Amino acid sequence: MTQRVAIIGAGPSGMAQLHCFEEARKQGVDVPELVCFEKQDNWGGLWNYTWRTGLDEHGEPCHGSMYRYLWSNGPKECLEFADYTFDEHFGRPIPSFPPREVLFDYIIGRAKKNDINRHIRYKTAVRWVEETSNGKFRVTSENLDTNDSSTEEFDYVIVASGHFSIPNVPYYPGFERFPGRILHGHDFRDALEFKDKRLLVMGSSYSAEDIALQCRKYGSGPVTITYRTNPMGFKWPDGVEEVPLLTHVDGNTAHFKDGSTREIDAIIMCTGYLHSFPFMAEDLKLVTANRLWSDGLYKGVFWMDNPKVMYLGMQDQYYTFTQFDAEAWLARDAIIGRFEVPDRKAMQKDFDAWRAKEEKLETPYDDIDFQADHIADLVQYTDYPEFDLDLTRKLFYDWEHHKDENIVTYRDRAGFQSPCTGTESPAHHTDWWRALDDSMDTYVKQSA
Ligand SMILES: Cc1cc2nc3c(=O)[nH]c(=O)nc-3n(C[C@H](O)[C@H](O)[C@H](O)COP(=O)(O)OP(=O)(O)OC[C@H]3O[C@@H](n4cnc5c(N)ncnc54)[C@H](O)[C@@H]3O)c2cc1C
Ligand SMILES: NC(=O)c1ccc[n+]([C@@H]2O[C@H](COP(=O)([O-])OP(=O)(O)OC[C@H]3O[C@@H](n4cnc5c(N)ncnc54)[C@H](OP(=O)(O)O)[C@@H]3O)[C@@H](O)[C@H]2O)c1
Repeated sequence: MTQRVAIIGAGPSGMAQLHCFEEARKQGVDVPELVCFEKQDNWGGLWNYTWRTGLDEHGEPCHGSMYRYLWSNGPKECLEFADYTFDEHFGRPIPSFPPREVLFDYIIGRAKKNDINRHIRYKTAVRWVEETSNGKFRVTSENLDTNDSSTEEFDYVIVASGHFSIPNVPYYPGFERFPGRILHGHDFRDALEFKDKRLLVMGSSYSAEDIALQCRKYGSGPVTITYRTNPMGFKWPDGVEEVPLLTHVDGNTAHFKDGSTREIDAIIMCTGYLHSFPFMAEDLKLVTANRLWSDGLYKGVFWMDNPKVMYLGMQDQYYTFTQFDAEAWLARDAIIGRFEVPDRKAMQKDFDAWRAKEEKLETPYDDIDFQADHIADLVQYTDYPEFDLDLTRKLFYDWEHHKDENIVTYRDRAGFQSPCTGTESPAHHTDWWRALDDSMDTYVKQSA
């Protein structure tokens, strides 16, 4: 009997999974039947931009959290697919911090090459996954066009549904009487909405940094960023500042822990996301915070209570596509019998060792090394093509330094070397701060 594998989600993680099975098929491996369930009408996950917010056209929670004018916040060389390089896709070197549309094009370039689309059932949401008495999995899904439900059996389940779509939305006193807009970054789409508005941005991580700067770039009024634990501490441009945590709002006045106040017109909460898997039965459901070593997973992939259930891309992310590839290759190899998942005790021992290391991490540089070590650990077991992982550590280090030097200009840097081809990235034709048109045409074609 052919084995069956259910893959939930056709974002970069699910696509990596389909892609590497196809690579094995090309080597002559007898690959199981693959069914990838995707609730949206296109692939690419978060990179598939939607203008919608709230509920989508089917009344489902809108998955998209990306916004217009979003550019990569890390050098593209650190997420390059080892078997499908930027040079191969674009035909010539491109700069290091591409806008969303350019990266979307790159992701689907590899997917088209291996024709993985044939495995994807679009507009189909997974509603429930449970184990059967014979050690298989019953997967119930719904066709969102027809509302028909179907239940099928699978031998393995791979959860690749992402974890940056269900917003964490805290409450602060006075919100209910605030006269302006309060939204989470998940619902932020276009910075021009906030032209001339005085903004309060909550949070001290990547969304807060990027949305604050982007709003200012597109003409907002002054931006105040409020932090809970530590400020980001960058040298902000004029009109952007960081203050301690909000205590409450009173009309348009925001009050902060240090006793200071600011007048504001809108509040954007960049307060992170929740890992949420309402479609997984309790005994299969990953429960974890957003951290580099997720709870409950052996090698960051296998659900230790039942390793025929695998989760992809569930870590906090410095490395993204490279990490997803490394995880997908190992998941594939466990399924086709090239990698043996050890017994529970051995899994726990391995988990505890990684967790102990994770708990000692102090700086972003430690985090980068930890995640690079994780990738190195995964790829050693598989035939993932060779690339210079140590070079990517250095590129991430350089990137951190560039951000500390100037948070506005770090995306203008050139000379990042590809870990796959050695190619050095050219400078972009326009500084990021002045580049208001983020279309692929302007970015790639006009940079020739
Ligand atoms: C605002 C923002 C900006 C980012 N910018 C960058 C960046 O610049 N560079 C970078 O490398 N990374 C960035 N990321 C990180 C991003 O998480 C990854 O790049 C990547 O998209 C994760 O891929 P994924 O496949 O794991 O998850 P996702 O991209 O979230 O894809 C998950 C897929 O699963 C589907 N799905 C979910 N539930 C179900 C269900 N029940 N049934 C069927 N299908 C389902 C979704 O529709 C979606 O298509 C950013 C994230 C955010 C939120
Ligand atoms: N391409 C881009 O430019 C871009 C732009 C945006 C996002 N992203 C990506 O999106 C992902 C998610 O990033 P994120 O910044 O949204 O989430 P995140 O990294 O999880 O950060 C969440 C932030 O919210 C704060 N927070 C949580 N609860 C709070 C509360 N009750 N009150 C005040 N602050 C609170 C946290 O503060 P503490 O420090 O106190 O915990 C933290 O600073 C990352 O992978 C990032 O790379 C990329």
